[in-house]
Amino acid sequence: MTSNILAIDQGTTSSRAIVFDGDMKIAATGQQEFTQHYPASGWVEHDPEEIWATVVATCKAAIKKAGLTAQDIAAIGITNQRETVVIWDKVTGKAIHNAIVWQDRRTAPLCQKLKKAGKEPTFTRKTGLLLDPYFSGTKIAWILDNVKGARKRAEAGELLAGTIDTFLIWRLTGGKVHATDATNASRTLLFNIAENKWDDELLKLLRVPAGLLAQVKDCAADFGKTEKSLFGSEIPILGVAGDQQAATIGQACFEPGMMKSTYGTGCFAILNTGADMVRSKNRLLTTIAYRLGGKTTYALEGSIFIAGAAVQWLRDGAKMISHAAKSGELAAQADPSQNVYLVPAFVGLGAPHWDADARGAIFGLTRNSGPAEFAKAALESVAFQTRDLLDAMKKDWRGHGGRKTVLRVDGGMVASDWTMQCLADILDAPVDRPTVLETTALGAAWLAGSKAGVWPKARDFSKRWALDRRFEPLMDEKIRRAKIKGWHDAVRRTLSA
Ligand code: G3P
Repeated sequence: MTSNILAIDQGTTSSRAIVFDGDMKIAATGQQEFTQHYPASGWVEHDPEEIWATVVATCKAAIKKAGLTAQDIAAIGITNQRETVVIWDKVTGKAIHNAIVWQDRRTAPLCQKLKKAGKEPTFTRKTGLLLDPYFSGTKIAWILDNVKGARKRAEAGELLAGTIDTFLIWRLTGGKVHATDATNASRTLLFNIAENKWDDELLKLLRVPAGLLAQVKDCAADFGKTEKSLFGSEIPILGVAGDQQAATIGQACFEPGMMKSTYGTGCFAILNTGADMVRSKNRLLTTIAYRLGGKTTYALEGSIFIAGAAVQWLRDGAKMISHAAKSGELAAQADPSQNVYLVPAFVGLGAPHWDADARGAIFGLTRNSGPAEFAKAALESVAFQTRDLLDAMKKDWRGHGGRKTVLRVDGGMVASDWTMQCLADILDAPVDRPTVLETTALGAAWLAGSKAGVWPKARDFSKRWALDRRFEPLMDEKIRRAKIKGWHDAVRRTLSA
């Protein structure tokens, strides 16, 4: 029996497909970037057809590159950008609007309205989230309210909604399965994470008809089979998790107190809190880490909207650097006497500020500030934001009796030694970089592979996690303190109110 697994990692800026062999090693990868649409300030959309086309093309490319056919793939695991939503026609399969992306801020007024009406505590108690446009629920409401005839059609049962995993499952199975997993559901503002079900009161508050929503399953479950016509033969879909939760699994953070931080478009730190739904007193999220065998494991999450995207902005927006991968080298050449701070609030600020109306700012420029100082400021902003998250997390976790935590990092940015040293210096804590950096795809593949019975169970999978390098803090305490103070000052001046 074959033990190759295909992981689909549908991210914010690109779709990737990775074939892992039976040793859990990467056999081949396919990757395609796709268009980001910015129809208005703070709005971000994706074309669902482009997402679909890039997913199919990258899957085919990866299978071919690995020298395999669909018959050699035991199962598919899907992981995805979370919170981004699509609503589509049940019959034609066509989306009625572009996907509204997690970064999109258009529903800030609706969130404000609900907050003013005193509804935030209800949402937080039931979902572990806050009333921020980041989450899917208000985006679904926006589409229903702004696409002509949508609400009527939704109420008549003609439409379906879902996060990207759901849309892909539906398309891959030829419209046979409308399902999601507990981690993706937990990001919608509609899912009661204590009771593990869509919540009628929240559906009512956001005016979302229940019939739009998918069946919620465990992360390792039967999500149907791909249509034969797509890849040549059917492949079972056996694993699904939002990308940050998949990375938590890929990093083998299976024990309470284990924490990972992923540096992709944004940065997301997740701390496994076990069976405890730890309520944050510091504006972090309580969310589902994974649900396996019907058992929910919870997490505390700190979400930063812009991490790698700050470097992308330097390359594509400001046109100051030619390669994102070179930003660490460039930062190392920066003039150490300059204190340039970039607050990358391009789409507002996430945890712990949750300021949807803040916009990016740069402070401390001199006549000598150039690409090196900008690169350093962009990379340092990622470290400062992580520090803010971890400070909040430690408070919540200690307040809950939790012990010391270990931080495992992954994502594109962690390949840079300069950036990781900077992170350890600002955090004043060790940072562990694993040998396998494709932890998100690996996590999704593990869900599918273990469900298929061809990959090891959690305990043996954990043993395979290997350290590439531990970065220890080296910065002088006085310098660190001054830098953090400068950062907080810059953030204070950037906040909208
Ligand atoms: O919550 C948004 C997150 O899932 C997006 O992840 O890797 O596409 O930045 P990424």
